[in-house]
This record gives sequence, structure tokens and C-alpha cells, in this order.
Amino acid sequence: MCGITGIVTSNLDNIGELLVKCSSKLTYRGYDSVGVAAVHNGRVDLRKDVGTIEHVNRLLGLSRMKGDRGIAQLRWATYGAPTKANAQPHFGCDEVFYGAHNGNIHNYVEYKKELIDTGHIIRSENDGELCVHAVDKYYEETGDMFEAVQLSTQDLKGAYAYAVGRADKQEIYAVKMGSSLVAGIANNATIVSSDLPSVLPLTNNVIYLADGEMLVLTPDYVKVFRIEDGKQLERPSQISNVDAHAAEKGGYPHFMLKEINEQPKVARDVIGILESPMCEEWLRLLEKASRHYLVACGSSYNASIVGTYYFNRLAGIPMFHAIGGQFQPMYGATMDENSLCLLVSQSGETKDILNVLNLIKNENYGKALGVLNVIGSTLMFQSDSYIPMACGYEVSVPATKTYYSQSIIFAYLAARLGERNGHIDSSEAKAFISRLRDDLPSLTQTTIDRTGILAKNLARTLTDVKDLYCLGYGFTDGVAREGALKIKEICYNHCEGMYSSEFKHGPLSIVTKNYPVIFVTTTEDSWMVINHINEVKARHGRTIVVGELEETLEPYVKNKQDYLVVPKSEILINPILDVIPLQLLSYYLSVDLGINPDLPRNLSKTLTVD
Ligand code: M6R
Repeated sequence: MCGITGIVTSNLDNIGELLVKCSSKLTYRGYDSVGVAAVHNGRVDLRKDVGTIEHVNRLLGLSRMKGDRGIAQLRWATYGAPTKANAQPHFGCDEVFYGAHNGNIHNYVEYKKELIDTGHIIRSENDGELCVHAVDKYYEETGDMFEAVQLSTQDLKGAYAYAVGRADKQEIYAVKMGSSLVAGIANNATIVSSDLPSVLPLTNNVIYLADGEMLVLTPDYVKVFRIEDGKQLERPSQISNVDAHAAEKGGYPHFMLKEINEQPKVARDVIGILESPMCEEWLRLLEKASRHYLVACGSSYNASIVGTYYFNRLAGIPMFHAIGGQFQPMYGATMDENSLCLLVSQSGETKDILNVLNLIKNENYGKALGVLNVIGSTLMFQSDSYIPMACGYEVSVPATKTYYSQSIIFAYLAARLGERNGHIDSSEAKAFISRLRDDLPSLTQTTIDRTGILAKNLARTLTDVKDLYCLGYGFTDGVAREGALKIKEICYNHCEGMYSSEFKHGPLSIVTKNYPVIFVTTTEDSWMVINHINEVKARHGRTIVVGELEETLEPYVKNKQDYLVVPKSEILINPILDVIPLQLLSYYLSVDLGINPDLPRNLSKTLTVD
């Protein structure tokens, strides 16, 4: 949520252009409002408004702004509505200090009052403004920028990162206190940003930071300091090998479609990682633990549900799964030093997940194994070990390829563990793993090719539908929930994902003539799912099926497009493939409804707030 980018350069001509180019790569973090503050000849030019960066740039000519330093911010609204006044960056009391933040200031109400009582002029309802005023306040007292920034962190409670500058100072300062921050050093310019994609257009020479650290940026250097005692830290830069062009659409109309189509490659890449020697460490962690937990949010949680079935079936290991915020109240008291928590997060920055990570560290609750996509994320640095999802950038707000990668990771680990602990025969485990390695990429490609057109046709028949269900059984439980989440997220339709045998315990009463219910099934469970389909059919509902082609299922679908047929594989591969037609269905429905699936309203890809 929210993305900040600060740049200091020796060139006076193109600060606006640089800030727009770099910060637009953070669009996935927020698109409620955008602003740029640039310092030109000792004066701060601040322009901001509601809307996406393209929109605000057109409106206010952000990319034409002059100066040699500046800060841009893309906002996902939390404190204060998405209005021009609440857009960031903000000024301090007068137009000398400028700055912007990402994260939440938890003592917003008290601190705002304290600042107002001491004469500060606060113009918005946004907590980011308080960061600038905190620095302003301490500069008044000390007359020193470094000290003012350092002291501001004593007042500001919460998880945040901010960048700040002063009209008469050449430097930009930034702090990291619980939200992500990365810096970069280019020729005659330096940059600080919430995330790597916005650094890469300028440089691949990067510095990762830890919480409790602050930065000073000039055109020539980035210096890192520990906030607590002001000690300068040795933090050599490193070359990032992440491809800067990966964050481009590559000919696809939307990132989401591109990312769905990247899944065959993801299968190859993630299996490659799992077959590397690093896997031994992950397996040992899993083997040593006496109790196992899978903790995640949103799509990552849905994949964790699928994972729970794999660990049960293939390894005989009970996985307690929980959504991030639910974990402590639900399972906290069951943790001890022998526990292992798999913390699953695409961004590696989700606050609900980092809260669990902190709980594990603070209470000595065993080990944390991160399953993450963003290299350089907080989860990566702070977990005991981590498994990369190997997806490259996932730019589109709806998760697709990372959910898919997570399912493969769980299936693979469960088979390897089951082989080692004797829960399944070695030959069975080896055969399954070789199918994941050798067959899954092409099966995935075939699924995309075959179900794409069906999903497109089906979407056209659903444009008037506002309410539907997506039901799974056994292994497809998490798959159905994921399909429902996608439809809710990018089509703005109410779509509930649930266990199909539960439907008759209440929700069935919603079914009237043609009410759509999607059933997702494996070949192993279709005999049972048919019972649930019949219960809907008997009430004249419209039944839509996702699964392999089965004669017994065919009579239950009215039209060809109501049966999203995935290629023939096997029960344990089915759940990995079954999600693809649902991704495609939600994508085409979203486009038909005139929605941009990459940037659904009200959302942000990286949720660094509680
Ligand atoms: O980065 P994370 O995997 O921790 O994100 C978790 C959820 O916010 C995320 O999966 C969200 O539900 C997706 N936008 C759904 O498509």
C-alpha cells in the first residue's frame, strides 16, 4: 500500500520525468492519488491530485517539473479519504519541508492534537502529513536535519517508512520503521523507494535496508545510519539481476493476462528451485518440527488451504492453516520452540504476516520458513530460511502466477517429505515429482489454450450476474475460494467460495431459476460433487463445472462454455490446473464489465497496514 520514491540528481532539467518514470512502477501499490514535490532553485513545487499517475500527470504536468531533487507518492487511502488534500507529499507548517510516507502512524489522533496544540498547521486527515511535521518540529528545536529525522521516530508510533527534504537542503532523508525501503546509486543520481521496480529504471546498483535505519541521499552517495545512536553503517550496494523490463506488459493488454500466460514458465522455474540443494534445508526444517502451521492472507491463504491437503495426503503431516490476522488468537497458545510456521506471502511485506513473524521471534516460537516472491522483502531477510516462488514480478493486483507457484511448492515438498517419512512409496513420490517436472508446464499451457476461449464465452453470459457461488470439494476447496476471490476482486460481483458439501446447510436457499453455481472438481471427487450439483439443479439453478471431461458430469451443463474442461492429468495435478480457467473467467468478465483487472478499485497489491 502506497509507494514513495525520492530522487536526488545533479541534473536540474528532468526531476519530474525521472520521478514519474520510476514511481509509475509502484502503481500496483496505490492509485487513489498521486503527488510530486520537486525542489527548483530553492523553492518547493508541490503538485498532487486524485487519480492514477497517468491521469494526474496529464492534469498537472508532473513529468515537466524541474529541479534537482524531489519526492513522489502513489497513495492507497487508509487515513483520510482519497482527496487532493489527503494526497501526498505534504508540506510542513510552511512550504519549506516536504515529504511523504508509506504505512500507518498508529498514534495519529493524539499526535495530531499535540502538534496542533503547539501551533502546527495540519491541512489534511492523512497520517503521512505528521511525519513531515515531526521533522519540522525537531528542526525547530535542533536546527539540524539529521537530528530532526532521528528524533521524529521517537514521536511517530506505527509501521512506516518516509522520505523528507527541506527546500534549502540538497539532501533527501528517509527512514525505515517497519515498511519496506530500498535505495539505489546511479551516475550522478541516487534514489530511495518503497520497492525495487521503481529503482530499476534508474539503476540496478541497490542497497537493501533494515528497520530502524535511516538514509541520507545526495547525487553522489547514499549513507546508511542506525537511527537509535546515529552510527553510520557499512552497507555496500549490490547488483540486482532482476530484469527491469519484467514489469512491462510485453504486448498483452493487461499484466493479469500476461501473468496467467507466464505460468508454464513459472512451473519450470519453481521446480528448478525445489530441485536445487537448498531444498534439503527446507525439508529438514519441516522434519524437525513437532507442529506445523501455514499462515497467509488472500490468495496466498487459498493456496495454503490446497497445501494443507497435499501435506495430509502425501506426507501425513497435519498443517494448521490460518489467515495472518487470525493466527495468534487461534493458534498462538499452541506454539513452542519446536514449531515451524510457513509464512506465505507474494510481497513478503504483508503486515498481518510480519506480525506473525515478529510474534515467533519475540516469543521464541520455533522457526519461520518464508515462502515469498519478492527478493529483498522483509520476510526474506527476517525468516530463518525462505523458499522463492520464482515468478518474477507480479504486477497485476490480482495474484495469479504466485498462487499457482505456491500450490506447486506445497505439492512438491509434501511428496518429498512423504517419501522420506515413508508415508507414501518412494516410487509413487518419484513418479509424482517427475510429472510435476516433466508434464506440468505443458499441461498448464494446454489448459490456458483450451479454457481461454471457453472462459471468454462463459464470461459474456455472466455480465448481468451480480451474485454467484464457487464451490470446491477436497483438494479443490482452496481452488474454488481462489476463483471466488478473483471474481469479487476484479469484477465487483459477490461471489462466495465455499466447500460444496456445506452449501446445503444454508446457502442453498439462495438458488432460484438460473442462479449460477460453479463447481470445481477433481476426477476423484466428482462422484460426490455430482450430489451437490443435483441439489442445485433440482432448484433450477445454473451449474457450471471446472474439471476434466467426465461423461457423468456432462449432463449437468447446459452449454459448452459452462464446462471449463482442463486436460486429462491425475488427481494430484488437477488442483494445480483447475485454478487457471477461473483466473481466465474472472479476467474476461472483468474486461467485459469495463473494469481494468490490473487495478481494481479500493485495492493495493502490497498491504503493509494492519
Ligand atoms: O503479498 P501477499 O501474498 O501477502 O498478499 C496477500 C493478499 O493481499 C493477496 O493475495 C490478495 O488477496 C490478492 N490481491 C488476491 O488476488
